[in-house]
Amino acid sequence: MSIGGYLTAAVGGALTITMFVNAGWEAPPIESVQTGYRGLGMEQNINPRVRGADLAATQASLPEPPWELDTSGDKAGDLYENVQVLGDLSDDQFNRLMTAITEWVSPDQGCAYCHNEENYADDNLYTKIVSRRMLQMTQYINDGWSDHVGATGVTCYTCHRGQPVPANIWFTDPEGGQMAKTLGNRGGQNIAGTEVGLSSLPTDPLTPFLMNYDNEIRVISLETFPSPDHRKSIKQAEWTYGLMMHMSTSLGVNCTYCHNTRSFYDWDQSTPARTVAWHGIQMARDLNESYLTPLGPEYPDNRLGPLGDAPKASCATCHAGVNKPLYGAQMAKDYPSLLTSSE
Ligand code: HEC
Ligand code: HEC
Ligand code: HEC
Ligand code: HEC
Repeated sequence: MSIGGYLTAAVGGALTITMFVNAGWEAPPIESVQTGYRGLGMEQNINPRVRGADLAATQASLPEPPWELDTSGDKAGDLYENVQVLGDLSDDQFNRLMTAITEWVSPDQGCAYCHNEENYADDNLYTKIVSRRMLQMTQYINDGWSDHVGATGVTCYTCHRGQPVPANIWFTDPEGGQMAKTLGNRGGQNIAGTEVGLSSLPTDPLTPFLMNYDNEIRVISLETFPSPDHRKSIKQAEWTYGLMMHMSTSLGVNCTYCHNTRSFYDWDQSTPARTVAWHGIQMARDLNESYLTPLGPEYPDNRLGPLGDAPKASCATCHAGVNKPLYGAQMAKDYPSLLTSSE
């Protein structure tokens, strides 16, 4: 072999080693799952080892129902003093749910996280007030948003996963954190925003799109000669792309999970998942507007955002990086009291 040959081999070898030791390069084989017609590049690339380990860990930590459901006997509303939402539950069912929500939300702190243990009827802790509303919200999601959550449904665990504060919450933050402020006026973009997959897109697309019903996500013009009052601009498209990065990252998928990239706007060429996602956007707006934002005055200051707003939910709050939360585990069906709205 010539000197050049040895050099090529050495460089090739070094590159191969770099490839395996560097984070971000994943060892083959990677599985490709097709989501559209052949030849369109509509594929999801999955590393079966990483996925498999995460799936196994998620399944192993799923809380089991505390005991068999017994709906007979006196109603909680008659037995206790201050039961406003769960009054129709049997005593057994009520205690079973209290045991379950403790495991879902505050396993380390126990009943005392929401209760004055001297008097369980007392509403002195904000956590109890917030939980009462959370009970209603969970019922509302399962009852009113089956277009999105289907038969899988949600429980407190979908968002909380054994913690009082869910891992993926968000606040309105037009400046993208302290670090970003040193860059001067960025117009809300041009830093590696964590909410938008570390791209330099607008860092907070959630406030306009997951809070507000009026802001239009669609930006592609379908007219050959847009009329003078046509408001869709490249600047506006950046906000849409920011939201799309949030949605892709939250579900652990790429754009072709929902779109055929030859035509982002066309619903006929999109996958069924895009329709489910559309309902998801409407649902997130609804939850933030009707449930989470109005809870603002109940929280202590240290739970509020930099502008004093309440903590809110995004796609990531439930999905946590997976196309179906908890890999589609159907926990809600074991808790019939969470499936229908009592409001
Ligand atoms: C995450 C918050 C939370 C945790 C943890 C929790 N509870 Fe509750 N509990 C509530 C809420 C909210 C209500 C009121 C429900 C309603 O209004 O329908 C309630 C009501 C009660 C009541 C009725 C009191 C009365 O007289 O009105 C009892 C009893 C009770 N819980 C027992 C428990 C026990 C025992 C535990 C621990 C195993 C527990 N709870 C854990 C939120 C919680
Ligand atoms: C759609 C997601 C979602 C679901 C479902 C949900 N929560 Fe929450 N919960 C939140 C968010 C977001 C917050 C705000 C986090 C914070 O307090 O900083 C929150 C806050 C709370 C808090 C206040 C914690 C604290 O320390 O400030 C309690 C208690 C709570 N939830 C209980 C429940 C219970 C009980 C259920 C089920 C009946 C439930 N949640 C279902 C999203 C959810
Ligand atoms: C989980 C499904 C999903 C994923 C993943 C997704 N999108 Fe979207 N996208 C949608 C939905 C739903 C809409 C329509 C929103 C509406 O109508 O309000 C949309 C709208 C759009 C639009 C506007 C179309 C129009 O009519 O103007 C563009 C552009 C777009 N997406 C680009 C992307 C890009 C780029 C990615 C990857 C970074 C991506 N999307 C990832 C679901 C998805
Ligand atoms: C309250 C919890 C919750 C929130 C918030 C949420 N989802 Fe979902 N999502 C679910 C559940 C549960 C399912 C599973 C439904 C089923 O099994 O049919 C699901 C399913 C989906 C699916 C279908 C996945 C598949 O492979 O069939 C898409 C796409 C999706 N969600 C997108 C989104 C987007 C985008 C957002 C944010 C705009 C969002 N979701 C917010 C709970 C949620």
